[in-house]
Amino acid sequence: MGLKFDFNNMYSFSVGEHGVSQQDIEEVIADAVKAAAHLKKIIADPSARVRLNLEWVKLPEQSKEDITGIQKIARQISKKYENVLFLGIGGSYLGLKAAQDALCAPYYNEFKSLRKKLPRIYLEGNNLDPDTLVALLKNLNPKKTFVVVISKSGETTETKVAFILVEAWLKKGAGVKYGRQILAITDPKSGSLRKKVELEQKNDPLSFQSLPLLKGVGGRYSEFNMGLLHLAIVGVNISELFSGAKDMLTRCSREDVLKNPAYMYALLHTILYRKKAKSLAILMPFSQTLKSTADWYVQLLAESIGKKYHRKIETGKDGLENWLVDKANLCNRGRTPISAAGTNDLHSIQQNNVEGENNKVVTFIRVEKFRTELIVPAKFDFLSGKSFSALMQLAQEATEWALVSENRPNCTVIMPKVDAYNWGALLFFFEMATAFEGELQNVNAFDQPGVEGYKNYMYYKLGKPGISQAVAEGIKNKPLIKDSKYIL
Ligand code: PA5
Repeated sequence: MGLKFDFNNMYSFSVGEHGVSQQDIEEVIADAVKAAAHLKKIIADPSARVRLNLEWVKLPEQSKEDITGIQKIARQISKKYENVLFLGIGGSYLGLKAAQDALCAPYYNEFKSLRKKLPRIYLEGNNLDPDTLVALLKNLNPKKTFVVVISKSGETTETKVAFILVEAWLKKGAGVKYGRQILAITDPKSGSLRKKVELEQKNDPLSFQSLPLLKGVGGRYSEFNMGLLHLAIVGVNISELFSGAKDMLTRCSREDVLKNPAYMYALLHTILYRKKAKSLAILMPFSQTLKSTADWYVQLLAESIGKKYHRKIETGKDGLENWLVDKANLCNRGRTPISAAGTNDLHSIQQNNVEGENNKVVTFIRVEKFRTELIVPAKFDFLSGKSFSALMQLAQEATEWALVSENRPNCTVIMPKVDAYNWGALLFFFEMATAFEGELQNVNAFDQPGVEGYKNYMYYKLGKPGISQAVAEGIKNKPLIKDSKYIL
């Protein structure tokens, strides 16, 4: 059966007036059924999928040849290099980090025996903090390092400046053919990274290898596209991963909303958000290896649903559906995602979860079987003879109980184990849930216009050519106030 979704504690029979009642469901079910039909229609239409950025549903169906090609590149890299340095941010980083932590051995980089002769993995370009990159480049050997730069747009500042630096470092340390140690994953046609690839390959066709990103797949939905080379390098079983994702997609494509785990996840959270003001969404896996997956979900939910305006669906003369930003329809929607991890954060955020404002829903991820087993030695105390995994599961159950007894809604995704199959399913569960939440909230779950604000301000201050008059005026007319009276 694989992953299961337990939503008992979302209902009023568990948490009283803070939970969802039968009447709440009855009030929204007709809209939910329409939303499911709408999503089904788009998913079934290849051109709509690409146009509206839902092509990610097809990622687990990529051809065997494409995957074999990526695995071949991965083998060549692993054979020659001790380190692989990936540069990317947002969707071009979080999926890789989540996969690394979930599917590779803990302390992978530290110990050869755990890496099984595979290269060490470093993830950078996801921040403008100079300290981490400087420390890394000072200590890595450029001759033994392969660099993969990932940016769909090819324009993102963080990745771009990191790459400029890393390229210069490689050039200096690895010699004139340094370009053969670089691979770019980017848009097949546009962006300055693509242009750079074309230029470099004219000089040396073996340099700046590249892999294309598929059309109609946004960054945060693209782990099974831009993350594939990383997965292949660290030896993840990609066909298992895809089969987990495909099975979950089948289960989460059921039009019967009440039988569809991802749709129920979105529906119950949306009811609690809209009717009971539960605006905080805490994702708390009870597994250290899934903490980065919770961080990945933060981006997925925040960028997909956190929107200023509703979506306006327009059907053109050609009969094609398009989604516009409905500027006449302000909504400021979106649950605020927070990532946590059990059991660490039972000694941190849990106090607030249980006794602070009742404005949140906690989603647990419960792992049924861990990769290893550890028993508390005998002659200790009442804990003697107990396994760590049993204690972990009990701690998760106890946390549920603590929340329920204070009438705090929560739910649990039950994962049989953390492996490629179930992790693929987990990502697709959340992606389908988010797509459906976008339908229920009537926002475009596949754009992120709010991210432009800070970029525009930086570009304006940096004097980037081509800034629009309107953007420049907007910044000039509303400068930040920095009155020293209010700085102590
Ligand atoms: O989901 C998205 O599309 C974004 O969050 C991007 O992943 C992020 O901004 C990085 O963009 P890029 O891959 O173009 O550098």
